Amino acid sequence: MYNEIDLDKIDIVTEPPTEEPARQYYFMAKCREWVRNFQKQKGCPPKACVVNFGCQMNAKDSEKLTGILKEAGYQWGEEQEADFVIYNTCTVRDNVNQRIYGRLGVLHGCKRRNPRLKIALCGCMMQENAVIEKIKKSYGFVDLIFGTHNIFKFSELLYTCLISDRMIIDIWKDTDKIVEDLPVERKYPFKSGINIMFGCNNFCSYCIVPYVRGRERSRESEDILREAKRLAAEGVKEIMLLGQNVNSYGKNLEHPISFAQLLQEVEKIEGIERIRFMTSHPKDLSDELIQVMKQSKKICRHLHLPLQSGSTKILKAMNRRYTKEQYLALADKIRSEIPDIAITTDIIVGFPGETSEDLEETIDVVKKVQFDNAFTFLYSKRTGTPAASMENQVPEEVVKPGFDRLLHVVQETAKHRAGLLAGQYARVLVEEVNEHDSHLMTGRMSNNMLVHFPGGEELLGQFVTVYLKECRGFYYIGERMA
Ligand code: 5AD
Ligand code: SF4
Repeated sequence: MYNEIDLDKIDIVTEPPTEEPARQYYFMAKCREWVRNFQKQKGCPPKACVVNFGCQMNAKDSEKLTGILKEAGYQWGEEQEADFVIYNTCTVRDNVNQRIYGRLGVLHGCKRRNPRLKIALCGCMMQENAVIEKIKKSYGFVDLIFGTHNIFKFSELLYTCLISDRMIIDIWKDTDKIVEDLPVERKYPFKSGINIMFGCNNFCSYCIVPYVRGRERSRESEDILREAKRLAAEGVKEIMLLGQNVNSYGKNLEHPISFAQLLQEVEKIEGIERIRFMTSHPKDLSDELIQVMKQSKKICRHLHLPLQSGSTKILKAMNRRYTKEQYLALADKIRSEIPDIAITTDIIVGFPGETSEDLEETIDVVKKVQFDNAFTFLYSKRTGTPAASMENQVPEEVVKPGFDRLLHVVQETAKHRAGLLAGQYARVLVEEVNEHDSHLMTGRMSNNMLVHFPGGEELLGQFVTVYLKECRGFYYIGERMA
């Protein structure tokens, strides 16, 4: 197990081991030696900065990168003062790609001021050939590029990059490899994500994820439970099980196990008080899961259930494999079985061929399901996906008014749902000192809603009961019960 490995005892003079994760520990030790030499020469250790773009999966991956950099001896610094900057990129929508290119331009300026700065790029965007070509051509100052499948190799790649002047590129098309027991530096001491599966097999026609994250593969349940137990022993109270489509967890394992069964095993772990998961695909959400959630004392009253569109015609073109009616029936069933559950969703507006009638269907679903929150996205054409080559693309200026209308309905619905809790008491996990007012602490309710209330830092990581005094749209102002 990684926290039992002493890097300083690894023999780094001999050849590196071939098996994993031993090989990566060898290179971590090499990096540590490099960092010590840097410190001897410059009088201070090098600083690193990990910048995360994208989803919870990426956030988790960034914790892995951070864990390795810390093991190597890097200190933390802002982008402008760092000696090693890594962008963990996302490519789900084009606006993120553009932001990343923009920030790379700024980093170039940093490198001119600090020539020893090393710049690394990893994550989903790097799995696209066109991106690699563009970086080679126009961003030649980048030092290291790797993708999603070989992130476990980061120690080795970091070391290669540190001792080389060339641009190092290592991209794998796909993998069935899952390397366990590498270091992770968690952002919060009291809550943590756990990967339960990687990749996606659904091929929704607009989505680039199956191409950049590869085929679906589940981690062995023993490995997941071992990790959860270790986290509990370290003081973690809330865990989030992560996968692109958690409802199909375990199907391809040698000893198949359902997601609901996995949840029941996690529930037994002492010390874990809350369990969340992300993301569910409506087509795979089983009755078994609903019942397990209903009976659970630990699974949070929150389900993120991406709708994408309320039009059966568009859902078919999206390859979502459910109809408007099936989604409505599912949401109904969940709400009647678990009345205090919050349902949130993702919606795409402007998919090829979408008409104003189709959008009306989506708005109709929003009104009927009464989502507690919804993330609305303008359709973004992703090269290589089936939707990108559909002929009936809708120009953005045509889509925008409908998008704004949907957003308005979503906000009104969410406000209404949130307001229903006024005057109640909620058990919250205290996560942060409020960004804007340091007299306030921020806690998260089981249903994922935030409440800000007067309190001190000693409450961080504690469960407290808060009176929900005033609803401010998406969050509450509350008072802590003595
Ligand atoms: N355009 C717009 N939104 C997208 N999403 C995924 N692909 C696209 C795309 N091409 C959204 C979906 C998904 C969320 C993570 O991102 O709504 O659920
Ligand atoms: Fe993309 Fe669909 Fe897989 Fe989600 S389920 S990652 S939207 S292909």
